Amino acid sequence: MKKVKAKIIGTGSYLPEKVLSNQDLERMVETSDEWIVSRTGMKERRIARDDEYTSDMGASAARLAISDAGLEAEDIDFILVATLTPDYLFPSTACLIQNAIGAKRASGADIQAACTGYLYLLMMAKSFVESGVYKNVLVVAAEKLSSITNYKDRSTCVLFGDGAAACVVSSEGKGLSVESIQLGSDGEQSNLIIMPAGGCRLPASQETVAEGQHYIKMAGNEVFKHAVRRMETACKECLNAAGITEQEVSWLIPHQANMRIIDAIAKRFEHLPPERIFKTVQKYGNTSASSVGIALDELLKTAPLKQGEQILLTAFGAGLTWGAGILRAE
Ligand code: ACO
Repeated sequence: MKKVKAKIIGTGSYLPEKVLSNQDLERMVETSDEWIVSRTGMKERRIARDDEYTSDMGASAARLAISDAGLEAEDIDFILVATLTPDYLFPSTACLIQNAIGAKRASGADIQAACTGYLYLLMMAKSFVESGVYKNVLVVAAEKLSSITNYKDRSTCVLFGDGAAACVVSSEGKGLSVESIQLGSDGEQSNLIIMPAGGCRLPASQETVAEGQHYIKMAGNEVFKHAVRRMETACKECLNAAGITEQEVSWLIPHQANMRIIDAIAKRFEHLPPERIFKTVQKYGNTSASSVGIALDELLKTAPLKQGEQILLTAFGAGLTWGAGILRAE
């Protein structure tokens, strides 16, 4: 029997209209355009409207991905959603998106792997499809990070933006085959990026609100070092597992957390020319789970791939979690 190969047959992304520039941030906290650009490479990020939620952004990206795949919402068998900013702790954002897009036949669930969410979902979608459990899996990564960002904390508020990405992973149709995916986690470092309150350890109270415990807390310097090391290793393991060299990769799409992290990774892949490292960090900031998916959609829409070209994706985030994946144009 011929082995089924999971393929991404459609992609989509959504960015809110409102732009938050470095100049806007200069008016909110003690910072400067010069500091933000030199330390992060970011110039702007997008911010959702007050009445625009993670499920709305996810549904918009999902509709585009389904249409790009030439499918209808009723063709979707399962919806996987990655987010650390769900509309609610429950019900799942997957169920809200299912209802919004009219995917009446689909089941769905949320997965939390912070900024590595898109890669975690690709691994699960690939497994569902290649094992024959489902034919069409909708992958959605969506974040309203502005809802958990403290706009009085200059060390984090300049970094994050809102946005969503989606793709359809299927056993049929033409697209990008999902080759090797490598994932990793290190729970020992779970305190490095954390939102301390709102879960069962520290339920919401007047104290947790007064102490600002419902915002992202990050040990930036420590996280930086882990990010570079983990993404480099994940990429190398992924290339080995796929049996290819970096010379055979047309594009690297790294997690868009910081231009300096991207540059540090790029240095470790001397055969990948700088113009082949796809970046959106300057205009969207760090959109966590959505970041790699938004960049992938933008790359495919602006520089369509030739048959046989391969893309290396890599991401890193809270957990800690990290991963890498190879996609191949069929
Ligand atoms: N404007 C001006 N000064 C600032 C700002 C700001 N926005 N933020 C911090 N500073 C100051 C600090 O107070 C510090 O001042 P001090 O020396 O007087 O104490 C100085 O700048 C240097 O601060 P550092 O934290 O050492 O700056 P660094 O160069 O490490 O950059 C940054 C900080 C951008 C956060 C970086 O560490 C980083 O990108 N880390 C990784 C983030 C990441 O990868 N996250 C991924 C996962 S996110 C997720 O999963 C949700």
